[in-house]
Amino acid sequence: MDSQAIRDKTVLVTGGAGFIGSHLVEALAPHNEVRVLDNFSSGDRSHLPDDVTIVEGDVGDPIALQEAARGVDVIFHHAAVVSVSRSVDAPRRSNETNLEASLLLLEQARQEDARVVVASSAAVYGHPDELPISESASTEPTSPYGIQKLAVDQYTRRYAELYDLETVALRYFNAYGPRQQGPYSGVISTFLEQARADEPITIEGDGEQTRDFVHVSDIVRANLQAATTEATGEAFNIGTGSRTSIRSLAETIKAATDSSSPIVHRDPRPGDIRHSGADISKANRRLGFESRVSLESGIQSLVDGTRLSPMEANAEPASDSMREGNPAR
Ligand code: UD1
Repeated sequence: MDSQAIRDKTVLVTGGAGFIGSHLVEALAPHNEVRVLDNFSSGDRSHLPDDVTIVEGDVGDPIALQEAARGVDVIFHHAAVVSVSRSVDAPRRSNETNLEASLLLLEQARQEDARVVVASSAAVYGHPDELPISESASTEPTSPYGIQKLAVDQYTRRYAELYDLETVALRYFNAYGPRQQGPYSGVISTFLEQARADEPITIEGDGEQTRDFVHVSDIVRANLQAATTEATGEAFNIGTGSRTSIRSLAETIKAATDSSSPIVHRDPRPGDIRHSGADISKANRRLGFESRVSLESGIQSLVDGTRLSPMEANAEPASDSMREGNPAR
């Protein structure tokens, strides 16, 4: 599968100024006409290349959406309220953006007969029954955010069946990389900030919980593959296939930053998922997806401030000593 195959298309990236969206825009812009629909509530204009067309507005605003989507070939849908805790505090508010606006977007895509690639989430699974988690695992989300993502994921797949729309849902595991920042940004950026400031690195609980951390450049590559795949109407796990404990992550970040931060423990997060890890064999088989960035090199590049391009990132998973569990390849 040639993941650079999307060329000379008109594409829309919703949430294109955000963390994942802006990396995707950068990868698309050299070869395609790119539009970005973003309300800049958390995204940043400075992340966008000069030659993209920006429509400022909410995805849930039909006028803005219509303007942004007119004549597009592919829509990458990354606009969302990404904070799980905000979805718990205000479920209807996050439902408006995460679910209602996504439905509006799918309807708009029907009008344009545009392919839609949707950012789904490992949150659809809730507490997993087994590891690694395959796409056919049970889906019992534990938060309004997860419920909303699951509904969008299902709508996305059903739109392929009911309306013959080309759709793909990508279920991201724990994404990390440059530009991930702010209060809801995830454990890697939190630990990095703490380590750089020589402040305590705060592990919630015993640190034995595990996650599948996937670099944003791998996520971008999955999106490019989804843009051209024939495997539409499907959902795919996007992770690395390996799990890392939070304690091991804390130690790696401390070492990589040469920090004198103590590693301390706080109360576990209520409702925290103990283990999460993707079975990526379906994405590998059907999309040609593989993860190329090991956690060590991903963290090292964050520390050094170097960029990993989605096309050039090196594969070195076998030597990754931090990994545990069964790589699902
Ligand atoms: C992540 C996603 C979430 C998604 C879920 C799917 C992020 C930011 N969130 O949640 O959108 O719904 O996967 O499964 O990627 N931790 C610490 N110390 C800290 C911060 C976190 O020990 O300072 C621990 C947490 O308790 C947790 C783990 O690190 O056990 C990961 O936390 P976090 O990065 O917030 O992601 P998830 O909760 O896995």
